[in-house]
Amino acid sequence: MAPPAACLIGWPAAHSRSPIIHNYWLKSLGIAGNYRIEAVKPDQFASFLGELAARGYVGANVTMPHKERALELARGDARARAVGAANTLWFDSGVLCATNTDVEGFVGNLDVSAPGWDRAGGDVLVLGAGGASRAVLFGLLERDIAKIYLANRTRGRAEALARQFGERVKPIGWEDVAAALSRAKLLVNTTSLGMKGQPPLEIDVAALPADAVVADLVSVPLHTPLLSAARARGLRTADGLGMLLHQAVGGFALWFGKRPTVNAELRALVEADLTK
Ligand code: ATR
Repeated sequence: MAPPAACLIGWPAAHSRSPIIHNYWLKSLGIAGNYRIEAVKPDQFASFLGELAARGYVGANVTMPHKERALELARGDARARAVGAANTLWFDSGVLCATNTDVEGFVGNLDVSAPGWDRAGGDVLVLGAGGASRAVLFGLLERDIAKIYLANRTRGRAEALARQFGERVKPIGWEDVAAALSRAKLLVNTTSLGMKGQPPLEIDVAALPADAVVADLVSVPLHTPLLSAARARGLRTADGLGMLLHQAVGGFALWFGKRPTVNAELRALVEADLTK
């Protein structure tokens, strides 16, 4: 029998770090298996999923542009449904199931980067109201955060998320961010600001409390201006690479039966690829 395999399904088959991550874990845990990229056009995605097991796959990651369709075609859990998109598929008694591991990637990364972050009290301030923000909000709510201020350039999108996620999410205006910083024990950037080729995120980290934690979902560049400024002030930070690594743990465990750990060697391997 062929060893178990998983794949990343995307179109175009973008350069992804997932093969580096999963093949590192397979090797270091001594599991015979493999993980590869499958370029699948949107009009072939449904039939590809229908043949997933026949092609020898125990599961898959899904990326652009298939994440919403994946949720329609598989049995989504609460996380995938809340985010409105799936990034991880596996079989449970032959049924194709879907989750969104960005939720645990965000929270798991915070747990190791800033232990106790969820016991600090104070406000949480989330910037951005796109797909990444949904995963962050759901993770924060799962961890019983009482109040989350949500700011987005287009206010209507923040208000829509507040309606979806309930009264613990409070939309505020983009112009109110500066004033909200002084009470924010956790600041999370889910916008594309600070990403390579995008404008910087104009935030004065000096306005944050001295024990604040700053998380940035941007991973290119790894050291975003926001994170660099936060570190220069001595604040604890959680970066986009950490989230990327931690979101991969759950899929691997579902497919290959062992829960891997994110270690420094893996981080260095992926960091080298990100910065080359
Ligand atoms: P993702 O799924 O990665 O979250 P997205 O849905 O495209 O991506 O969301 C991008 C986020 O970055 C949005 O919150 C977007 O704000 P709008 O909803 O107003 O578009 C935010 N964003 C992008 N460019 C921005 C800019 N120049 N200033 C402020 N916010 C910006």
